[in-house]
Amino acid sequence: FSLKKYNTFGIEAFAKQFVAIHNTDELKQILEQNTSKEKFILGGGSNMLLTQDIDALVIHIDIKGKKVIFENDDVVEVQCNAGENWHEFVLWTIDHGFGGLENMSLIPGNVGTTPVQNIGAYGTEIKDTFVSCEAMDIKTLEIRTFSNTECAFGYRESIFKNEAKGQYIITSVTFRLTKKDHKINTSYGDILAELAKKNIETPTLKDVSNAVISIRKSKLPDPAELGNSGSFFKNPIIPKVQFDAIKEKFPEIRFFPVSDTEVKVPAGWLIEQAGFKGKRFGDAGVHKNQALVLVNYGNATGAEILEVSRKVQQAVFDIYGINIEAEVNII
Ligand code: EPU
Repeated sequence: FSLKKYNTFGIEAFAKQFVAIHNTDELKQILEQNTSKEKFILGGGSNMLLTQDIDALVIHIDIKGKKVIFENDDVVEVQCNAGENWHEFVLWTIDHGFGGLENMSLIPGNVGTTPVQNIGAYGTEIKDTFVSCEAMDIKTLEIRTFSNTECAFGYRESIFKNEAKGQYIITSVTFRLTKKDHKINTSYGDILAELAKKNIETPTLKDVSNAVISIRKSKLPDPAELGNSGSFFKNPIIPKVQFDAIKEKFPEIRFFPVSDTEVKVPAGWLIEQAGFKGKRFGDAGVHKNQALVLVNYGNATGAEILEVSRKVQQAVFDIYGINIEAEVNII
C-alpha cells in the first residue's frame, strides 16, 4: 500500500498493511484483532520523514466530528476529533467567533497530532488553549484523558514524544476558546507588519488569521505543490554563556531570549548563513524562502532528504558549534 498520499513530504514508501479507522469502536476492534502485529499510527502525516517501507499494520486515524461541550457568556470548550484537518478546524472556530487558534492558521496536519509536538506559530502554542485530550491505550484499549499539565508541554515537546511515546492513540482534543474579550496576539513582528500593510489597527480574529495565512504563504511551501514537513529542525536553545561567545565572533546573529540563562537561536538564520538556503541536491533540497524547511522536488527518497539534513547539521555545527535537532519524526 503506497503511503505517498499520506505524508506531506510526498515520499514513496509502502506499508505492509493499511487500515483507516473512523471511530473509537473501530479502532478498538482493529487493535483487538491485531494484538501480536507491529502497528504504526498515522495521522495527517505532516511531521514525519519516511526513510523506509513500514513493515507493520498502518492505522490511519480518520475520526471526524467536533462539538461544543461547554459554553458560558465568555468561553466555549470545543471537543474536536483526531481526524479533522487542523486548518479547517481553525477556520471553523473563527467563523463561529471563537478566539485562541487564529495565530495557528494554515498549519498542515490533523487535530489529533497537534498535542504530540505542541504545535505553535506566531507567538502561540496549542498548550495555551488546550484543556485535555482523550487517547486510547494501545495495550489495555481503555480511553484515558490527559489534562494540560499531564501532557507536560514544552517547545515542540509533550509526554507523547517522551514517557508515553508509542503507548497511546489520541482520539480527540478539547480546546477552551474565548467568545469575547479575545486576546489578540500580534507580538510577532511579521503579523503587525502584515496588518499595517492593510491599515488594520484593531484586528479581528479573521484579520489575524488572514495575516498569518499571507505570511505563511509567502515563506512556507504548500505541501500540495512541493513536498515538505514544515520546519525540519527545532530552533536550538543554548546556554547564554555559549551564545555570548558565539556573538563575539558573529555579532549579527539573531536570537530570542528564553530566560536569564538561555537563548533561542533561529535555525533558519544559521542554515542560511551556512549557505544552504535554496540549495538543491537532486530532488531533495533546502527551501528558497525559509531555510528551516527541507523540500522534496518530486521523487526524492526519505534517505536523500535525511542526507541533506545531516549535511546541514554538520555545516551549522562546524561554523557555530551548535547542534540543530530534527523536529520532524524520522521513521
Ligand atoms: N531566518 C533567516 N533565514 C531563513 C529563515 C529564517 O534568517 O531562511 C530568520 C528570520 O529572518 C527571523 C528568524 O529567522 O529573524 C525567525 O524566522 P521565522 O519567523 O520564519 O520563524 P522560524 O523561527 O524559522 C518558527 C517555527 C515555525 C513557525 C514560525 C512562526 C520552529 C521550529 N518553527 O520558525 O513553525 O511558523 O516560527 O512562529 O519553531 C513548524 O514548526 O513546522 C513551523 C513552520
